[in-house]
Amino acid sequence: MPDPFDPLADPAATVARYPGLSHAPATARNRAPICRALADLLPTAPCKVLEVASGTGEHALWMARNLSQVTWQPSEATPEGVAAIEAWRALCPDIANRVLPPVQINAARPPWPGSPVDAVFTANLTHIAPWEATLGLIAGAVARLGQGGLLLIYGPFNEGGSYTGPGNAAFDADLRLRNPAWGLRDREVIDDLALAHHFTIAPRWMMPADNRLLV
Ligand SMILES: C[S@@+](CC[C@H](N)C(=O)[O-])C[C@H]1O[C@@H](n2cnc3c(N)ncnc32)[C@H](O)[C@@H]1O
Repeated sequence: MPDPFDPLADPAATVARYPGLSHAPATARNRAPICRALADLLPTAPCKVLEVASGTGEHALWMARNLSQVTWQPSEATPEGVAAIEAWRALCPDIANRVLPPVQINAARPPWPGSPVDAVFTANLTHIAPWEATLGLIAGAVARLGQGGLLLIYGPFNEGGSYTGPGNAAFDADLRLRNPAWGLRDREVIDDLALAHHFTIAPRWMMPADNRLLV
């Protein structure tokens, strides 16, 4: 009888069962709202999404599981990061054909190798990396997207020069203590940068826990 265990149902239980796995608990909380937004934004026809800074790869697997038209290309900055994603991917053979083997991409060093995609997605990169990663993200996305391609940036951002909530203020202070090059970015600055690269700015999506999805 096949093992009915679903590695994506309860990621914490999966990590308990496979102790070597990396795990980002926040992905279990934000994956459903992000997926609902992507379902509205992505083409309904077969399409390819490049994810920059996939972390553990848990988002990649969840999105591919729930968006059947999508082929998802996860990536991370280091070989260790790529291996961590592959460890999760190996647990989900049912979607292995639509979650491509992870590749190494440094957001800050565009252009990245690879073929054109319909969308570039990233979650929680802009504030946990030096500003060069955001600069590279936008320049790199331009090079991989065609006309009508989407750049989707999820995370916490400042708006109108202010924090969008007290939680984000405390989070920003903590980030800057950990690394002075990190910190929440201004949404308007990212929008201006994208405009300078000839993107059209769509209304941002309000997401739970004072996050946004920039489109
Ligand atoms: C907070 S984690 C977010 C991971 C995942 N997207 C998520 O939401 O759980 C930030 C990730 O950005 C990656 N990262 C940092 N700088 C990067 C860069 N220059 N290029 C690509 N990835 C980078 C880190 O390795 C880390 O996995």
